[in-house]
Amino acid sequence: MPLPIVTERLVLRAYEDDDLHQLHDVLYSDEAAMRLLGGPRDLPGTRAALERSMNQQDRTGYSFWPVIERESGLLCGEAGLFPLAPDGPDVALGYAFGSAYWGRGYATEAATAVVAEAFGPLGLDRVVAITREANLGSQRVLAKLGFEMQGLRHVWGAEQLFFTLRRPAALRATG
Ligand SMILES: CC(C)(COP(=O)(O)OP(=O)(O)OC[C@H]1O[C@@H](n2cnc3c(N)ncnc32)[C@H](O)[C@@H]1OP(=O)(O)O)[C@@H](O)C(=O)NCCC(=O)NCCS
Repeated sequence: MPLPIVTERLVLRAYEDDDLHQLHDVLYSDEAAMRLLGGPRDLPGTRAALERSMNQQDRTGYSFWPVIERESGLLCGEAGLFPLAPDGPDVALGYAFGSAYWGRGYATEAATAVVAEAFGPLGLDRVVAITREANLGSQRVLAKLGFEMQGLRHVWGAEQLFFTLRRPAALRATG
């Protein structure tokens, strides 16, 4: 998948080893941001997440990507795609931002760009998403992107709302 992805206010690029401390300070150690994502991580936990994304990128050409705020040049969160299960076939959208960056439309802006890449260069027929019932902000982001809720699914040890978004008809027609 072609990186970086540049939007009006954000850049999504490939992870680098040097992102570790910013990623940890801004997102993975942030209690509010990690509350519904298994709680804050220690530094080795953040390193493991970063390595998972880098390995995923090498294997499939997509992963979570760091989101950089263009105005400041600072890493403010991550967004991207990951396989819902190791043996496929569903590819899920994900996003998370440090709480200092909430409420600016960044999740919607980044997720919109990720979905465009999924249906464009990656050629996926559908993108899925999961979120906790308590995560009303995330559900609002998915609704704004046009995702449809399909009910509850047991994913990663918890009951989660399961959403799908089909490849737009215009893209289906032109391949
Ligand atoms: C969920 C999250 C990604 C939203 O990021 P964001 O950049 O603030 O999102 P946006 O500004 O693009 O849009 C959020 C929308 O949800 C709404 N919202 C936010 N919190 C809400 C809540 N508690 N209840 C209802 N709506 C809420 C906002 O008003 C906004 O809707 P609007 O544009 O119609 O006003 C962010 O809170 C986050 O990173 N949370 C921690 C990680 C996480 O939960 N990730 C998702 C995992 S599934």
